[in-house]
Amino acid sequence: MTLLVYGAYGYTGELIAEEAVDRGVETVVAGRNEVRTEHLGRRLDCESRSFGVGEAPDHLEDVDAVLNCAGPFVDTYEPMVEACLETGTDYLDITGELSVFEAVAERDREAEQADVCLLPGVGFDVVPTDCLAGHLHDRLPGATDLALGFDPSGSVSKGTLASAIEHAGQGGKVRRNGDIVDVPSAHRSRRIDFGRGERNAVAIPWGDVSTAYYTTGIGNVEVYTAMPKAAERALRLGRPVLPLLEVEPVKRTLQSVAQLTVSGPSARQRERGACYVWGEATDGETTVTSRLKTPETYALTVDAATTAAERVLEGDQVGFETPAAAFTPEFVLELDGVEGFHDE
Ligand SMILES: NC(=O)c1ccc[n+]([C@@H]2O[C@H](COP(=O)([O-])OP(=O)(O)OC[C@H]3O[C@@H](n4cnc5c(N)ncnc54)[C@H](OP(=O)(O)O)[C@@H]3O)[C@@H](O)[C@H]2O)c1
Repeated sequence: MTLLVYGAYGYTGELIAEEAVDRGVETVVAGRNEVRTEHLGRRLDCESRSFGVGEAPDHLEDVDAVLNCAGPFVDTYEPMVEACLETGTDYLDITGELSVFEAVAERDREAEQADVCLLPGVGFDVVPTDCLAGHLHDRLPGATDLALGFDPSGSVSKGTLASAIEHAGQGGKVRRNGDIVDVPSAHRSRRIDFGRGERNAVAIPWGDVSTAYYTTGIGNVEVYTAMPKAAERALRLGRPVLPLLEVEPVKRTLQSVAQLTVSGPSARQRERGACYVWGEATDGETTVTSRLKTPETYALTVDAATTAAERVLEGDQVGFETPAAAFTPEFVLELDGVEGFHDE
């Protein structure tokens, strides 16, 4: 069984490709830059293919699954999903982009007909939070409201920053009665004990606003991240200029600055970092809370994405899936260094 890692010479793609090769997965590294793709193939001693996403159908006939690591995914998911449906290839990615989850979910029926699995979000966003959502739903099947959140440590990669800039102008999003609803950015804050004492936390339009609904059927979903009060105030003050971030030249300039100034966590930071993940479900009368502690977010992403790809290569999942729906909520507990579920 062969896995093609696309965007394989990016910060995260390269770590994932390395891990897949280390685990003995038959791996093809791919990306749009010929020199960088070939160089990586030589370094990892595996096959390399260079092509743009639009040419993907010509390069997938003999592979069993694609793990797309080329983000912002709003620019790459559609041609890659199309190519996978056309060639009968399973599709995974490490997106955290809400609009991408929603668009991929819409291809569920087509994927079933093509006998293809579509599994976006196999990185830190959304594996731990999605599994926690599934676990909370198992504890309280009648839950009507779900809140999820995380308190990460460490820095981000340029691709993550570019993806955040891509969607920053769109404000906040929550799920209400099953629908995704626009809200102002940082529209709500609360004190949350993620697992190391109470912290200020602010609502963000994280991928689980989409995926937790497909995993649990709970119609009201909010996602929070730990954030100092000063940053929360800055977000609120910045609301009037947010529409500027939807102006293409402004967005591209900021993304270019991100490319030049950000490099992603070092190996030491990935080894030493940790992240605290929290979730709360309620049916109006009973409230249940659970927590997880995970390794640093990129370290977790590499493990989760590679493990998910191995499972899809071996398994028979078909149609649109979320990580917890595809592999059960316990999937996250099988990843290296994850501690939980700590239930209250
Ligand atoms: N779910 C999670 O928790 C999680 C964790 C880590 C990363 N991510 C996401 O994964 C993505 C990659 O992150 P990264 O840290 O690896 O970023 P990165 O170092 O900037 O790498 C991005 C890769 O994607 C390729 N790419 C970008 N746009 C493309 C396009 N339109 N067509 C073809 N290839 C394209 C780039 O190729 P070029 O260099 O040729 O442009 C590069 O290989 C980001 O969206 C990030 O948010 C998610």
